[in-house]
Amino acid sequence: MRRAKVTAVGAYLPERRLTNADLEKLVDTSNEWILERTGIRERRILGRGKGSAYMAIRAAEEALRKRGLPAEAIDLVIVATVTPEYPFPATANLVAHALGAHRAWGFDIEAACSSFLYALSIAADSISSGRVERALVIGSDKMSSIIDYRDRATCVIFGDAAGAVLLEPTEEEVGVLDYLHRSDGSGCTYLHMKAGGSLLPPSVRTVRNRLHYVYQEGRQVFKQAVVQMAAISEDLMKKHGLTADDIAFFVPHQANLRIIEAAAQRLGLPREKVMINIDRYGNTTSATLPLCLYDYESQLKKGDNLILATFGGGFTWGALWLRWAY
Ligand code: UT7
Repeated sequence: MRRAKVTAVGAYLPERRLTNADLEKLVDTSNEWILERTGIRERRILGRGKGSAYMAIRAAEEALRKRGLPAEAIDLVIVATVTPEYPFPATANLVAHALGAHRAWGFDIEAACSSFLYALSIAADSISSGRVERALVIGSDKMSSIIDYRDRATCVIFGDAAGAVLLEPTEEEVGVLDYLHRSDGSGCTYLHMKAGGSLLPPSVRTVRNRLHYVYQEGRQVFKQAVVQMAAISEDLMKKHGLTADDIAFFVPHQANLRIIEAAAQRLGLPREKVMINIDRYGNTTSATLPLCLYDYESQLKKGDNLILATFGGGFTWGALWLRWAY
C-alpha cells in the first residue's frame, strides 16, 4: 500500500526574542503570571517588511537541503497559515516560485491552529493516491502582524515562526497512517479576527476600533482545547488498538503548557513522552507541530509512533498518527 512518509524537517525562527520582561514593559503583566498560566518564557518576532512567505521559504529550503533534493523535485506545496502574505494569491504560490519549484502546484490552508495538521493530511492523501510524488507542507505564521500589543490576554501567548516537512511516497508501513479531524463553526465567536474579511472589509472605522487583531475568549477556548484534543487522540488510538505504551511521543499543538499537560494526563502519557517547546517560542499557530518535530528530530527513530494533535479557532481540531520513517 502506498503511503506518505516524512523524509525531512526544516524550520525558521526569527532572531529577535520577545521575553516576558519585554512584555512587562508593554502591558500590565508579570513574568510569574505568564510562566504560571502559559509556560511561555519568550517568543520570536519577525521584523517589519517581511511576511510569512519569508519564513516559509527558509524552512522549506532547509528541509530540501537536508534531504539533498532540488526544488524541481516537488509537485505540491501547501502552506498552512492564518497570516498569509496577501489575502490572495496564496502564499504557497510565492513560496514555490522563490524556491524554484517550477513543476509544483500549491495553495494555502487556513484552519486556525489546526491548519498544519489539515494540510499534512491533504498532502499525505495526494501522495497515497499516486497523483503526487513529493510535497512540501509548511506551517508559517507571523502572528505579531495580527496581535494587539495592548491586549495582555493575547499578546503574551503568540510568536512568529515557520516549520516545514517534506513528504515522499513509501510502500513500507511508516509515515501518515491515519487521522481524524473535526470542526464546529459555533466556536467562531470565541476566537476570531472580527474585520478584514468580506463581512467587514478594512475601513477607517475597523482600524480605529482595533478589529484587525486576534480576539480570544481564552477561558472558553481553554476548556474546549483540553477536552477535544485528548478525546480525538484517544478515538484515533482506540481505532487502531494503540495504548500509551505504543506511543513514542505525543506531539500537541503548543497553545498553553497547562492544556498540553492536561491532555497528556487524560491520555495517560508521561511528560517524557510529550514534545514541548512552548517555553521558547510561544504559540506559533501553524508552525507549532513542525517545530516540535524539528526540535525532537534527533530523539526520533524509525518505527516510532507519534500522535500529533491540535485544537484551534473555528473551532477546528484533529489528531494524526505518524510513524517516523528515519
Ligand atoms: O492556539 C489556539 C487556541 N488557543 C488556546 O488554546 C488558548 C486557550 N486559553 C489560554 O491559554 C488561557 O485561557 C489564557 C492564557 C489566554 C488566559 O489564561 P487564564 O488562566 O484562562 O486566564 P483568564 O482569561 O481566566 O484570566 C484570569 C485573570 C483575569 O483577571 P481577573 O478578571 O480574574 O481579575 C485576567 O484579566 O488573569 C488576568 N490576565 C492577566 N494577568 C496578568 C489575563 N491576561 C493576563 C496577563 N497578565 N497577561
